[in-house]
Amino acid sequence: MKEDARVESVLAAMTFDEKVGQMWQINGGAAAHEALVREGRVGSVLNLAYWREHANPAAHYNRFQRIAVEESRLGIPLIVGRDVIHGFRTVLPIPLGQAAAFDDALAEEGAALAAREARAHGINWTFAPMVDISRDPRWGRIAESLGEDPLLASRLGAAMVRGFQREGVAACGKHYVGYGRDYNTANIPEGLLRDVYLAPFEALVKAGCMTFMSAFNDLNGVPASGNPFTLRQILKGQFGFDGFVVSDWGSVEEMIAHGFCEDRSAAAQAALHAGVDMEMVSRCYTDNLRRLLDAGLVEKAWIDEAVARILRIKLRLGLFDDPYLPEDRLSVTLCDAHRALAKRAALASAVLLRNEGAALPLSAAVKTLAVIGPLADAPRDQLGCWAMDGEPEACVTPLAALRAALAARGGTVRYVQALAGSRDTSPAQFAAARAAAEAADAVVLVLGEEEVLSGEAHCRAYLDLPGAQHGLFDAVAACGKPVVVVVLAGRPLTLGAINDRAAAILWAWHPGTLGGEAVADLLLGCAVPSGKLPVSFPRTVGQVPVFYSRKNTGRPPQDDARVGVPEGTPLDPKGFTASYLDCDYRPKYPFGFGLSYTTFAYDGLQIRTPAVRSGESVVIAAAVTNTGACAADETVQLYIRDVTASATRPVKELKDYMRITLKPGETRQVVFSLPTAALAFHDPAMRRVVEPGRFQVWVAGCSDGGLQGEFAVVGE
Ligand code: BGC
Repeated sequence: MKEDARVESVLAAMTFDEKVGQMWQINGGAAAHEALVREGRVGSVLNLAYWREHANPAAHYNRFQRIAVEESRLGIPLIVGRDVIHGFRTVLPIPLGQAAAFDDALAEEGAALAAREARAHGINWTFAPMVDISRDPRWGRIAESLGEDPLLASRLGAAMVRGFQREGVAACGKHYVGYGRDYNTANIPEGLLRDVYLAPFEALVKAGCMTFMSAFNDLNGVPASGNPFTLRQILKGQFGFDGFVVSDWGSVEEMIAHGFCEDRSAAAQAALHAGVDMEMVSRCYTDNLRRLLDAGLVEKAWIDEAVARILRIKLRLGLFDDPYLPEDRLSVTLCDAHRALAKRAALASAVLLRNEGAALPLSAAVKTLAVIGPLADAPRDQLGCWAMDGEPEACVTPLAALRAALAARGGTVRYVQALAGSRDTSPAQFAAARAAAEAADAVVLVLGEEEVLSGEAHCRAYLDLPGAQHGLFDAVAACGKPVVVVVLAGRPLTLGAINDRAAAILWAWHPGTLGGEAVADLLLGCAVPSGKLPVSFPRTVGQVPVFYSRKNTGRPPQDDARVGVPEGTPLDPKGFTASYLDCDYRPKYPFGFGLSYTTFAYDGLQIRTPAVRSGESVVIAAAVTNTGACAADETVQLYIRDVTASATRPVKELKDYMRITLKPGETRQVVFSLPTAALAFHDPAMRRVVEPGRFQVWVAGCSDGGLQGEFAVVGE
């Protein structure tokens, strides 16, 4: 039978209570929940089993699934969800770190790894990928995001959907839409919403993403879980999404606190009207839908549609035909192939921000290495947020990996933790840290943020290194030797003077299970850094929001804009531009930036289609040469600017990227072919248009600079 016919036949057999049951997701697999499943009152369970508490979580899954399939009246299988965000028991770098790899294939493989391990543990639905465009590093959930750029989030998010779903785990695009600070209000004009914030969600629909999650936030005055415009009209209508929407945890009920719904009944009505098909945890639907239907306040068709969508995805996932999971696959957990992939991902995600005097890689002559800092040997912290299934016990920390590497070459590591955690304020160990540095041939300081400083409900108002870490840097730097700083963190931080005083800065994010091995390989030159920033790094928190695809003003800042006004400067409006008095207007490290141990030269820009008709493709080529001494990867980036349009456009927009590997001396002709549809934006009438006119174009290794040319779109 075809999918729709099967859905219809199940739907036709369902009682009203069974329908409402499908629309409810409960939390946890306690014995008390079994009766609910048997009575057909539950469609989904999240967090059914935790591997530390269940010897075989897949067996627990099968027990619950058997109750649903063999003991409930209609035998409708459960869909079982969990937050499998960046790996499972093998943990990959946080998503923001994975984004720094600019590598779609790697993102897909990472999601497939996570799905294989999760499925072996009785999970067939994950609440990922998160594609919220994140332009505020104070937000703890920036760690879970794919950064500030819609194209990058679209491509990597779609790759992750493919990875999860090819291994039998349904993906969930979240948080739909406009989420940017915990639970908070967002005011986003419709054009910006469509061009930037909705774009990655549309890409996920195109990739076949089976589910979406409605967000906690209020968008332009309407909570996202009660918004028919974004859910029904855009997601299900315009984007053609035919799977189901789950609310965020309690987000239906929370519409009361938002001041949008009087009570739980009104919340149920608003959510159903908007197009939320399944309610996560709270019970507004189960407790109110019958009364609402009897009172004519909701339509039966809405309920049938919600249930049909849920059944469709259960069918599509294969749950009706093959509801049980194998119970003998746990050995995939942390297998060699998964550990190798976790290391590859950590290697590809680290970003080299500074490398004065080629301080890195460390010389082979280094025999005594000082390794100092609160994050050098902090396995739980290196896993990052949303790694509740991760195993700190399986982690290789930077300290462990450096010790092993130094021992293999007959050297030693002198380790001083110096601070008990990233927030420790005690300088008691600083003298010991300095002494270790003085006695060593080279000094590595591993600083950053512990795991709990990012993630949900973990915003920070300050972006500096917490605790006494700045003081620790000063104490260690006093040894007079070059200090290499490795940062493990869930977000961009403002390092202040360390930016200029460290010999090198390697940004490793929270790099996951094999993060330490990756850091050691990079520091010792066994691997070459290749990550590029997926988000702009501010100089100070006062610059936030700062992102590369800003709009211009009528008085754009000049690149040499002076900072500060000397005493006695006469007031001269000619010099007034949109900049700061007390800080450079530019970010400290721009989007797309990242150094290597080699250098790359860009030249020979060719605009092969100087005038292109709408509907054709723009073809742009450039030669990229590895001008240094080691083979390395470079991410070549294509940016455009629509110079004049009926609505102002950003000064730059990323339109394509390509990660390439070049041997020393090798030149590659990189060719980008960009359909003009990729130049579209929403005009003031909200039509998606490609307007004729001039476009600037850059081929570059970073959002700042690069080879620049121009082409024109000449109409039909
Ligand atoms: C988060 C979601 C998550 C859900 C289920 C919520 O608090 O916002 O991202 O998927 O919990 O754990």
